[in-house]
Amino acid sequence: MYHSQIFSIKLFLLIQYFAYADSQCPSNFLKGPCSCIESNSSNDPVLLYPTVIESIPIRSKSIVCEHIENSLFDLRSFFVKLSAILLTAGQKTNNVTSFNDFLLHNTKMKHLPRNLFGNITFTNIILYQNPLLNSIDVNAFNNTRNKIEVFRTVNTSLSDSKTLFSLIREFTNLRFLSMENDKLKSIPDYAFNNTHLRYIWFGAHFKQTSQPIEYIGKYSFYHAPSLTSLRIFSPLLAKIGKYSLAMNRISRIVSDDLSQMLYIDIGGSMIDSYSFESTSLTRLRNRSTFLRLYNTSIDYLDENVFQPFLESNPSSLLDVQDSSLSRSCDSRSLWIKSEYCININSRENRVYGTACCSF
Ligand SMILES: *[C@@H]1O[C@H](CO)[C@@H](O)[C@H](O)[C@H]1NC(C)=O
Ligand SMILES: *[C@@H]1O[C@H](CO)[C@@H](O)[C@H](O)[C@H]1NC(C)=O
Ligand SMILES: *[C@@H]1O[C@H](CO)[C@@H](O)[C@H](O)[C@H]1NC(C)=O
Ligand SMILES: *[C@@H]1O[C@H](CO)[C@@H](O)[C@H](O)[C@H]1NC(C)=O
Ligand SMILES: *[C@@H]1O[C@H](CO)[C@@H](O)[C@H](O)[C@H]1NC(C)=O
Ligand SMILES: *[C@@H]1O[C@H](CO)[C@@H](O)[C@H](O)[C@H]1NC(C)=O
Ligand SMILES: *[C@@H]1O[C@H](CO)[C@@H](O)[C@H](O)[C@H]1NC(C)=O
Ligand SMILES: *[C@@H]1O[C@H](CO)[C@@H](O)[C@H](O)[C@H]1NC(C)=O
Repeated sequence: MYHSQIFSIKLFLLIQYFAYADSQCPSNFLKGPCSCIESNSSNDPVLLYPTVIESIPIRSKSIVCEHIENSLFDLRSFFVKLSAILLTAGQKTNNVTSFNDFLLHNTKMKHLPRNLFGNITFTNIILYQNPLLNSIDVNAFNNTRNKIEVFRTVNTSLSDSKTLFSLIREFTNLRFLSMENDKLKSIPDYAFNNTHLRYIWFGAHFKQTSQPIEYIGKYSFYHAPSLTSLRIFSPLLAKIGKYSLAMNRISRIVSDDLSQMLYIDIGGSMIDSYSFESTSLTRLRNRSTFLRLYNTSIDYLDENVFQPFLESNPSSLLDVQDSSLSRSCDSRSLWIKSEYCININSRENRVYGTACCSF
């Protein structure tokens, strides 16, 4: 509460300042549910926007729309008017319609229509705590799709993977995708086609957020050649298919560091020792990979699955946390002991979090 008071004062001052300072954000737009956050002061590049749960960094030249109770609120008209005003007021520069962040926070909106932003463009789209939001038109972001670098959702009802991923595939500059606590049940075949995408996060271990994914298709991440971190936390995921984690070669154009490690974090109590199909962990194209399994029901490590994984690259590592394997060592896991655990003279420990490696 203390924080949000500070924030309100800060925002109030900002609004006052810009209402009088003839800024690019028209002052009459500040009265509706959407605020325009602008500052040309270089010392204040990021405003931390605090919600009850976390702080969302919102930069200057951003639009925040929040607390919309009317599920049919016409956000599109707001942007049509805003772009009309900006375009007539600011013909001198051709960048008046480029904004940084769009935050939709705590609304009852159900749908985002086609061409939502008119001629306004954003680099970051954050849909935070809109529990009724269940559909986004496949052309909702069509005018800004080449600009979007960050796409985040938290607590929405989005479930239509087909539409969602066909619009995400069009975000040619996407770097970061994070979806937490939505209703997504599957990740389709060839879900991504994003050259610059480095982070794909469905849930986060440290925040205990997840995505109710039951099924991951084939080659879902194959066309994300810059991927460095993949997180999938789902209480409903029970199977990792042969081709689900298959990776294509790392992009030489995009990556400055070809030796960079790929982090794959998977968590969920329905993941057990039989969940990983054979060869599911060896289609990583010799990338050095750190596979971390959290809070699973894995009770032994199948030699036919995890040994080829560890041999697929000499630097690959495996960590198994919060499963029964952490407390006891099944005889079927003993294969890791002589080759992949630490011993006093060896520097390298390749497997973490299992009782098999405690001597
Ligand atoms: C912002 O820009 C306006 C016009 O360019 C200028 O008059 C004003 O001093 C600037 N404010 C800050 C805080 O830099
Ligand atoms: C958007 O820009 C196009 C040209 O770039 C223009 O024809 C159109 O009228 C603009 N739309 C709005 C709502 O300003
Ligand atoms: C246009 O605006 C965006 C967002 O404020 C900014 O990142 C970009 O550098 C600007 N481009 C130009 C050419 O001024
Ligand atoms: C986006 O959709 C609108 C409405 O359907 C259309 O007028 C506009 O030309 C489209 N823009 C692009 C870049 O496809
Ligand atoms: C998501 O919604 C649930 C239930 O309404 C709530 O408990 C939780 O705090 C929300 N999470 C965030 C990050 O807003
Ligand atoms: C993937 O993206 C490339 C360009 O970025 C495009 O040429 C290709 O058609 C896309 N493939 C699919 C299946 O969308
Ligand atoms: C696999 O990667 C390692 C380093 O990560 C490298 O030393 C080795 O030559 C690569 N092997 C092949 C067959 O590309
Ligand atoms: C592990 O999963 C169970 C069942 O889904 C859940 O109750 C528990 O909180 C989880 N533990 C951690 C540390 O995430």
